[in-house]
Amino acid sequence: MKRFPYTLWLTGLSAAGKSTLAFALADVLTGQVVCCEVLDGDVVRRTLSRDLGFSREDRSENIRRVAQRCRALNDAGTVAIAALISPFAADRTMARDIVGDERFIEVYLSTPLVICEARDPKGLYLRAHAGQIANFTGVSDPYEAPLDPELSFDTSCLSLQSCVEATFDWCRTRMANDGS
Ligand code: ADX
Repeated sequence: MKRFPYTLWLTGLSAAGKSTLAFALADVLTGQVVCCEVLDGDVVRRTLSRDLGFSREDRSENIRRVAQRCRALNDAGTVAIAALISPFAADRTMARDIVGDERFIEVYLSTPLVICEARDPKGLYLRAHAGQIANFTGVSDPYEAPLDPELSFDTSCLSLQSCVEATFDWCRTRMANDGS
C-alpha cells in the first residue's frame, strides 16, 4: 500500500504529456483543498537545477535534487508531482529510495517517440535531428522505459481526463487508510 501524502513521479520522453498531466492532477487536488506542488522539468531547470546540463551525471543530480524536494514536501504534508524525463532506470530507483517506496508512485507516459516527434511543441526534436542539441533523449541519448511502473499511459490514445481519473482511481484503491 502507498501512504498519503504521496509523490507522483511522471517519467517519459519530451512531449509525451508529462507537464499537461501534472498540472491537470494538481488542479484536481487543489480543487479538493489538498496541498500539492508540481516540480516540472522545464521550470526546475531554470531554478533548482539551473547550474546543470544534460550529461549522465547532471541528469542524475537533477533527479536527486527533485527527489529530495519531493521527500521534504511529503514530510510537510504536501503531495508532490514531479514531471521529469528521468530517462535512466537507476536514477528513478534512486528517487524511489529517497522518497520512500511507500510514497512513490511511478507514472510512465509511454507515448511513442514518433508521436512525440510529430508534436514537437518546442521544436527541440527538429533541432536535435539537425545536430543542434546534443544528448537529446530519444534522438542521441537513451530513454530506459520503466519495466514495472505503478501506472502507464499512452497519451496518443488516451484523453487527459481518462489519465487523471485513472490516476486518482489507482490512488484511492491503493492508499493506506490509516490517516497518516
Ligand atoms: S532530465 O533528463 O534531467 O529528467 P528534465 O525533465 O529535467 O530532463 O528536462 C527536460 C527538458 O529540458 C526538456 O523538456 C527540454 O525542454 C529540455 N532539454 C534541453 N536539452 C535537452 C536534452 N539534451 N535532452 C532532453 N531534454 C532537453
